[in-house]
Amino acid sequence: MRTTTALREQACQVLEANWTGRFTKPAPRLYPHQWSWDAAFIALGWMHENQERAQQELRHLFRAQWKNGLVPHIVFHRRARGYFPGPGVWETHRSPDAPARIATSGIVQPPVHATAAWAMYRQARDRRATRAFLEELFPKLMAWHDYLFRERDYHSEGLVYIRHPWESGMDNAPLWDGIEQRMHLNPGDRPRYRRVDTTLVAEADRPTGAEYDRYLYLVRLFAEAGYDEARLRESCPFLVEDVLFNTLICQAEQDLAEIAAELGDDPEPFRQRARRVAEAVNRKLWDDRRALYFDYDLVLDRPIWVRMAACFTPLFAGIPDGLQAARLVSHLEASGFFNWDGSCYSVPSYDPNGLGFSPVQYWRGPVWININWLLIEGLARYGYTEHAAHLGRTVRLLVERNGFYEYYHPYTGEGHGSEQFSWTAALVLDLLARRPEWMQWGVRSTRRRAVA
Ligand code: SER
Repeated sequence: MRTTTALREQACQVLEANWTGRFTKPAPRLYPHQWSWDAAFIALGWMHENQERAQQELRHLFRAQWKNGLVPHIVFHRRARGYFPGPGVWETHRSPDAPARIATSGIVQPPVHATAAWAMYRQARDRRATRAFLEELFPKLMAWHDYLFRERDYHSEGLVYIRHPWESGMDNAPLWDGIEQRMHLNPGDRPRYRRVDTTLVAEADRPTGAEYDRYLYLVRLFAEAGYDEARLRESCPFLVEDVLFNTLICQAEQDLAEIAAELGDDPEPFRQRARRVAEAVNRKLWDDRRALYFDYDLVLDRPIWVRMAACFTPLFAGIPDGLQAARLVSHLEASGFFNWDGSCYSVPSYDPNGLGFSPVQYWRGPVWININWLLIEGLARYGYTEHAAHLGRTVRLLVERNGFYEYYHPYTGEGHGSEQFSWTAALVLDLLARRPEWMQWGVRSTRRRAVA
């Protein structure tokens, strides 16, 4: 086993190697631009080592914010080549809101930014310097959240929708299989393109060609509609109220309230909005019989009964009450998602007993560190500290034995996707700094044995 100092140094080396001088690449070759939720997770790691870089990360992202408040899921790096789809595919000039001089995509990713900004402020050694940063970011964060509630809350019910699998951050999750099957593409609809990702990492680790056809079909639909949300709301075949996305906006509103209060502004409107989201998640996405939160398909007007690790994340935002949380934790333990006996590392992204589970294919089963980080924090929030510590230790085992990969085989721990993955390194740095007792082997669980 490595020492904590050695592990920390290795994690720092990953961030350092992916630092471009302006922002941190999620991965050395597979993701050469800046991604939105990656930037927030990466900032959570940098904040322990280099506050300036943590700030630069978010500043660089928000410089590319659209006039309507949208924070794009990719900010393209002018000098980077070798990624598909690039700016030419997105045609964001068709939108009056897109920035003129900065190339971006035209969709969003989960809103973790206010959460990262507030954590950065609380961790800061020099709060005075960081306060200026908070003041600078506050109106941008407000505009970002306002965009989501103004443009993406279809029924004005307190839930935000996504309109592309990439917006969920969980691109090829089995969540989307039914919707993608409905999206029948005639030969003329099939976009012509050449992928780069499958030349950089194992093809079996990545989404399929049929999935990419639909990703690109949707991008063309958006560009042809000039990114006009009112039109897209009527025509887009993919409109989903996603559990993870709404959990993260709920927590982000709570953190924005803290930021507002710190800056002498009224926190109440943000708290109210957070409560509204939490109520809506409990009203519409909670399935009491199955004791789990499920996504909701707005096109078919029905839930998507697919069990992802993300379905447990409302714990992170404090959305369930105590009884719901207890039932969620029992479900987690009984379903194969969480194993005390060490038969599985951390929590796999998709139900290990689910149809189409794959231990290696992107969001169809492998362990992702960001989802585990959300679950660790969520479990701790409700007092399940032994569960949280068990996950913390298995996360440590994964990176110690296998390196800082994008995702991991839940049973062998083997790394998949890209190596040197920034958010894996960043979130390990965060756990080592804030939750050291859960990243150590000396501290034994009193109830059950941890993975050894
Ligand atoms: N995650 C996507 C990719 O693999 C894009 O957001 O490139």
